[in-house]
Amino acid sequence: MPVIEAENVSYSYNGGAGFDIFRVKKMNFSIEKNQIIGVIGHTGSGKSTLAQLLNGLIKPTEGKILLNGKNLWEDFSNIREVHFKVGLTFQYPEHQLFKDTVYDDIAFGPINQGLSKQEVNTRVLNAAEFAGISKDILQRSPFDLSGGEKRRTAIAGIIAIDPEVLILDEPTSGLDPIGRREILESIYNYHNKKKNVIIFISHIMEDIAEMCDKVMVLDKGNLEMFDTPMKVFSNSSILSNLGLEVPQITRIMKIVHQRTHTSDETIIKIDDAIRNIIKILDMKRM
Ligand SMILES: Nc1ncnc2c1ncn2[C@@H]1O[C@H](COP(=O)(O)OP(=O)(O)O)[C@@H](O)[C@H]1O
Ligand SMILES: [Mg+2]
Repeated sequence: MPVIEAENVSYSYNGGAGFDIFRVKKMNFSIEKNQIIGVIGHTGSGKSTLAQLLNGLIKPTEGKILLNGKNLWEDFSNIREVHFKVGLTFQYPEHQLFKDTVYDDIAFGPINQGLSKQEVNTRVLNAAEFAGISKDILQRSPFDLSGGEKRRTAIAGIIAIDPEVLILDEPTSGLDPIGRREILESIYNYHNKKKNVIIFISHIMEDIAEMCDKVMVLDKGNLEMFDTPMKVFSNSSILSNLGLEVPQITRIMKIVHQRTHTSDETIIKIDDAIRNIIKILDMKRM
């Protein structure tokens, strides 16, 4: 059974009144377990709106979202439960840090779930480890941390509620390249241990290509494509019509293949490109 499904989901911020502008339009998709799903699209294409629909923060104007086969808005007595099952970190989540210590900030969610002190402690320590937060900063104020550490604290706070689905809305935006790499590695390792669904919104195509099993391409509230990164990034002309680009390595390898009259398969990952280039160089030597 799919973990999350959308059936004809539309959403308007004016809730069906007057001149309604739908920011999410008749979306249909299903997400299977243990997948990392990338979401790409131009600014204003509806990515954050979709994230909030999936976590039950806003209610579809039309259609249904199902979690493990159950309609979010019908079968759960309390929509709060949905926020615990589908964890969402907003863009710049560190703006929401508010406790005196990193520990207390991460503990906030599990405490709200009504867990015992001991269970909360286990959750906090596990989440800190997953998010790459060293033990010695747990008692520090979150406001004294570096940008990357603040971001990891905020992400740990959501991991600590142990959600079935984790949605990360542009988790690396504003970080320097090292901070970005560290966050991506933490997310990837967390996924490999938990085997849960992660929905990863990003405008960095390289990160989407490296991380994701499938990619949603949004444009003006429409789900234009939902396929493997390889298939999506083979469609460079469709993407450029939507104001998006393929990863740089994909463009480079296309030129290499044209010039060397070799394979024209789409390359989207650096490691595959390296292997491919070595093969081409070896062929030339023969
Ligand atoms: N709270 C809101 N009220 C009204 N319109 C909104 C609100 N939030 C977003 N929008 C509009 O909905 C569209 C989609 O926004 P959003 O989902 O934030 O896009 P993205 O995350 O892809 O940049 C945009 O045109 C935006 O201006
Ligand atoms: Mg957004």
